Amino acid sequence: MKAIILTENGGTDKLILKEIDKPVIEADEVLIKTSSIGINPVDGFVRQNEAYVKRKLLINPGEQMILGWDVSGTVVEVGDEVTGFKIGDEVFGMVKFPGHAKAYAEYVAAPVSHLAIKPANVSHNEAAAASLAALTAWQALVTYARVKKGDKVLIHSAAGGVGHYAVQIAKYFGAYVIGTGSATSKDFILALGADEFIDYSKEKFEEKVQDADVVLDGIPGDHILRSLDAVKWGGRVVSLLAFFEGENAEKARLKDVQAYRLAVESNGEDMKQIAKLLENGSLRSHISDVFSFEDIPAAHEKVDAGKTRGKIVVEL
Ligand SMILES: NC(=O)c1ccc[n+]([C@@H]2O[C@H](COP(=O)([O-])OP(=O)(O)OC[C@H]3O[C@@H](n4cnc5c(N)ncnc54)[C@H](OP(=O)(O)O)[C@@H]3O)[C@@H](O)[C@H]2O)c1
Repeated sequence: MKAIILTENGGTDKLILKEIDKPVIEADEVLIKTSSIGINPVDGFVRQNEAYVKRKLLINPGEQMILGWDVSGTVVEVGDEVTGFKIGDEVFGMVKFPGHAKAYAEYVAAPVSHLAIKPANVSHNEAAAASLAALTAWQALVTYARVKKGDKVLIHSAAGGVGHYAVQIAKYFGAYVIGTGSATSKDFILALGADEFIDYSKEKFEEKVQDADVVLDGIPGDHILRSLDAVKWGGRVVSLLAFFEGENAEKARLKDVQAYRLAVESNGEDMKQIAKLLENGSLRSHISDVFSFEDIPAAHEKVDAGKTRGKIVVEL
């Protein structure tokens, strides 16, 4: 089968197309014939970061490294202990994260506990897109922040992968949503359903909002300290990047803020909730670019640029 191998950590020139053997499934896994793959900022981060690979990817000595976690496709083999999934099912999910999922390949071995059935009215591209990013938005807002009707929710990077799902999920739960982005993202963020838009290049969001019930923050640097200014006393802040230690932890403590640093994890039950929202139209994937399998290096470059609107996917 075709796969994109990461020959060593570094630039996109280290992503090389190769013929390798199909994976062999475990008893609790299915083999998926891949139709679409989602690309996320973490793909570029791991591509460049040897320490992360050694710490998190559980690569065995001599094993070829293959990036990718978001997959949508068709089940072509089922493991001996698998129930609830059969050959021919169309499935999607974020597989083995954090771990070595090897999704940049024509066939992917996936534990069924990480998957959901793809709704028939949703394309493989839309489903692959709604894996890591949608799961992050779901786990941030539902699992951690416990968003509810009437909450004022401030979502940073509202035009990006996680953010564009987060806006829709917060609206689904009846929240009042404020999204941040640059001026070019304004119309897109409001069309997602956000009630207000803040242009981060012209305005200080913490001067406009100081009473958010929930803030979702995936921006690097000291941005999280500013998000702690925007949340109300006793509110909830979910960080996708900064850890709550030192000054961050102290500021959260002084405001009695429930501060969470999320690390998204594969979860088939959460994927099923996302599948339901995709099926009934409450959640939609916005796909800005579709790349071919051979063009995965170009897809990385696009995501690395940090200006993604919605999601970037690869179609096989
Ligand atoms: N901890 C976890 O488990 C986890 C999970 C998923 C993602 N993450 C991290 O969370 C971050 C977001 O992920 P993503 O997939 O949503 O990224 P993404 O799709 O690459 O986000 C791109 C978006 O960010 C917006 N943006 C850039 N700077 C901004 C700023 N200062 N204020 C507001 N918006 C800004 C851009 O909007 P404009 O074009 O309008 O500038 C663009 O639409 C990444 O750093 C990612 O690694 C962490």
